[in-house]
Amino acid sequence: MSLRDALDKVRTAAIKDVLAAGSAAELTRVRVHYLGRKGELTLRLKELADLPEKERKAAGEAGNQVKVAIEKELSRREADFASTASAKIGETEWIDVTAPGTPVPEGHLHLTTQAIREITALFRRLGFTRVRYPEADYDWYAFEALNMPPDHPARDEWETFFVDLPPGEKGKVVLTPHTSNGQIHELERKELPIRMINISKCYRRQSDVSHVPMFHQFEGLVIDKGISVTHLKGVLDHFAKAYFGADRRTRLRPFHFRFTEPSFEVDISCDICGGTGLLAGGAVCRLCKQGWVELGGAGMVHPNVLKATGVDPEQWGGFAFGWGVERTFMMKAGVKIDDLRVLYKNDLHFLHQF
Ligand code: PHE
Repeated sequence: MSLRDALDKVRTAAIKDVLAAGSAAELTRVRVHYLGRKGELTLRLKELADLPEKERKAAGEAGNQVKVAIEKELSRREADFASTASAKIGETEWIDVTAPGTPVPEGHLHLTTQAIREITALFRRLGFTRVRYPEADYDWYAFEALNMPPDHPARDEWETFFVDLPPGEKGKVVLTPHTSNGQIHELERKELPIRMINISKCYRRQSDVSHVPMFHQFEGLVIDKGISVTHLKGVLDHFAKAYFGADRRTRLRPFHFRFTEPSFEVDISCDICGGTGLLAGGAVCRLCKQGWVELGGAGMVHPNVLKATGVDPEQWGGFAFGWGVERTFMMKAGVKIDDLRVLYKNDLHFLHQF
């Protein structure tokens, strides 16, 4: 067989194989089979070197034509396979863009912050505005204007941190041991009437299972004309029902604070025994023992407090209350934790539960 015939045979066979190839991968195999380094056409073309000089040129051209023809057919089919593959991409690489994504693990607000926000929102609905005053404040605001003259023994109850600064006109600087300093700041603004809720950090020299040296209080102050204890009771009852549940009641128990007169401790009916102090079988309630649990202090603003801030007690009057945020929150959550300090240990096992 002449080289020419042999080349024609290779061309026919190659094109047949190209057309028969069912995938891009098969096409690649065909390409290697004919055009690869040891491919059929490649080997034929190598034989050209053995031809006599005068035949070599023509045969070379013929060989080249065969190569071009096979190449052409190969690339046409390759292009076919490539376009079907991209046409099918919608099926092979389909994703549902409406499917919900993978959620990123989220943290949440600290439970004290949650409680502060809830308390703020609740009082806002009653027309109270949240205010903020310094947490390092002068003695005047923390004690003196609250009817606690210097060296008065009542001050001992607020185990105060004093800041090592030279005293100013308004006395020494203290870390606020309660939020009642907000009452004085608010009264001094002389924008009456007042309905404020002051929520802030408080500091006392105490650290044990039921006390932390930094905690939070929320303090309400209402100053207007014709305000009586019944208004106070109404606000406290509303808070108790809205925050703790519709079946809860409050009671005012006589107490003593220098800045309110009369003064009360506010109790709320116990959730466990429903305020009876007794469990179903007649046993004494272990949580409260007598039907009530203590929430915090309250009272009618003392005339001396109004006088100290230049507000006329003949015209204006009102009530105030101040409770611990953490304590109130814990009572709502129904958790009895045996050590309050866990709140600020940043132990996620604990915090994640709220
Ligand atoms: N400031 C008081 C305390 O820390 C609470 C209180 C506030 C009492 C307002 C009466 C009125 O215990």
